[in-house]
Amino acid sequence: MQTVSTIAEVRARVARWREAAERVALVPTMGNLHDGHIALVRQARSHADRVVVSIFVNPLQFGPNEDFSAYPRTPEQDAERLAEAGADLLFLPQEQEIYPHGRQGTTIVEVPGISEILCGASRPGHFRGVATVVTKLFNIVGPDVALFGEKDFQQLLVIRRLVADLNLPLAIRGVPIVREADGLAMSSRNGYLSSAERASAPGLYRALQEGAARLLAGEQVYREVEEAMAHSIVVAGLQPDYVTIRRREDLAEPAMGERDLVILAAARLGRTRLIDNLAVTVPSPSGIEPPVPSGDN
Ligand code: PAF
Repeated sequence: MQTVSTIAEVRARVARWREAAERVALVPTMGNLHDGHIALVRQARSHADRVVVSIFVNPLQFGPNEDFSAYPRTPEQDAERLAEAGADLLFLPQEQEIYPHGRQGTTIVEVPGISEILCGASRPGHFRGVATVVTKLFNIVGPDVALFGEKDFQQLLVIRRLVADLNLPLAIRGVPIVREADGLAMSSRNGYLSSAERASAPGLYRALQEGAARLLAGEQVYREVEEAMAHSIVVAGLQPDYVTIRRREDLAEPAMGERDLVILAAARLGRTRLIDNLAVTVPSPSGIEPPVPSGDN
């Protein structure tokens, strides 16, 4: 695996692969890689001949009081793990390469609506930063497919929307959440947790599982299920930011009888903000499932 830091080097390398008619996958990351990222790289291998991974801690997606400076940066270990996982190219740019006109001076990509709810409401400007850097990475690499973890479920929908709205010629694939043995979703931010906080953290996922069980048992008064989950999260020692049941397709508030749902939660544990989600497909009342459409999305 080769590591490069300039856009010109990425483009030269990808152009050679294109001449050989090879398919290219991109896995955008902010580094400090864990098994969840490695799952993205392995999935990428199954969709393409070549895998490019980017590591860039994107200042544009952090609020002024957030953890941009503290965000863990471990490029040497990351490069080793990526080489083992079979990545072909690591793009590790400096900020100047991505934002030559400065953070304030750059052209931005804004996805309305879906960027403003849930995590977007708690973190104003966050998804603008994500949408901007991801669009730039797509244009720098020109991949056939890009892969993102489903842990950031709202981010995944924001990216699908921008790809559709801007007619970008690539497929977006979501990859299931990778969890620790006790259920905690893997995240670079888990490293911020003290050992006492780490012991409480799986309470977030447990609450989602409790909510999912109630939905699967046929409960449809979503507000009551949400309140019970919020209570469980508090009892586990976390402070919920939101815990909500939404339509999986677009995160709209679900109508009664909606079957493709997702429960999403964000909660604070000390200084750390954790997010998680769990998809729930409520069985059809007749017990007969309609056929599932297939294809890239
Ligand atoms: O999910 C992340 O790590 C980041 O939001 C991403 C997609 C790499 C954009 O900076």
